[in-house]
Amino acid sequence: MGRLEGKVALVTGAASGIGEGIAERFRSEGAEVVVADIDQARGTSVASRIAGLFVTCNVAVASDIAGAVAACVEGYGRLDVMVANAGFGGVRGPITDLDEAGFDQTVSVLLKGVAFCMKHACRAMQANGGGSIISTSSVAGLMGGMGPHVYSACKAGVIGLTRSVALEQGPFNIRVNCINPGGIATPIFAKGLGVDSDPAASAEILSLVSAGVSAGTPLGRIGTPADIAAAAVWLASEDSSYVTGQTIVVDGGLTSTKRLAEFPSDAVPLPAGGEVSELRASEKSES
Ligand SMILES: NC(=O)c1ccc[n+]([C@@H]2O[C@H](COP(=O)([O-])OP(=O)(O)OC[C@H]3O[C@@H](n4cnc5c(N)ncnc54)[C@H](O)[C@@H]3O)[C@@H](O)[C@H]2O)c1
Repeated sequence: MGRLEGKVALVTGAASGIGEGIAERFRSEGAEVVVADIDQARGTSVASRIAGLFVTCNVAVASDIAGAVAACVEGYGRLDVMVANAGFGGVRGPITDLDEAGFDQTVSVLLKGVAFCMKHACRAMQANGGGSIISTSSVAGLMGGMGPHVYSACKAGVIGLTRSVALEQGPFNIRVNCINPGGIATPIFAKGLGVDSDPAASAEILSLVSAGVSAGTPLGRIGTPADIAAAAVWLASEDSSYVTGQTIVVDGGLTSTKRLAEFPSDAVPLPAGGEVSELRASEKSES
């Protein structure tokens, strides 16, 4: 018997990458799955492969999200698990060049989209005795240098939304958590550079990203959608029934900063020279 037997899940951004991996795994664990995505061709193909339902949904449009939840309830009678995962790299470049339309579009998909997924999921789940909401944040929401500025801000915003909504929805037996992936091998990088329609260029970009992530990650490899799906199954299942408001980092140890850890501690360039050196000196003389 699968770990999600009898549950109904809606996964946004399930036409590709992490969302596709989550949809496949949820189905193999016995859930009914609604694939919601802006990409109709790929979404339909994923849904037919896993015997799920496809719904066209642009998460930047609140009424599309309401429609996807309604389709889920009409099709399967309920909603138990919402995975607010759809995303893209968004507006890029130095802050001095920030484009207003790009900012608005990025926030609409990455932050507003998650907030309205929570809104409509909570309405359906309250009518149903509870549920589990899982959003895809990022290591970029935890530290700098992991993504473009607005992307990073939105992913940090998802962590804040997660905590705040978890507090409100606990009494309704609705758990709200987010997963913060590290570097995961998906088309998002090639899409961000506008080369995803060119298979050779896409492969080259992924290979560069993979090499960089592997070198900077204690586990020495880039992650896969299956790595994230494994955490999502846990959060969707009753195995995590006492877990809410949490940020689950699935990054192969990337945020534990392997490169700094490899230095002898005295070689780490700590910022506050005076006080820290004095502390170190006194620690040494005591030992
Ligand atoms: N790949 C990584 O290294 C990584 C790391 C951290 C977080 N993430 C996050 O994981 C999530 C999934 O990304 P991925 O790597 O699988 O990328 P991906 O490009 O493979 O998949 C993203 C999916 O979202 C869909 N999408 C984009 N905009 C949408 C919109 N407005 N409405 C509905 N669907 C939309 C796309 O069509 C696509 O199917 C994103 O939120 C991303 O920010 C990815």
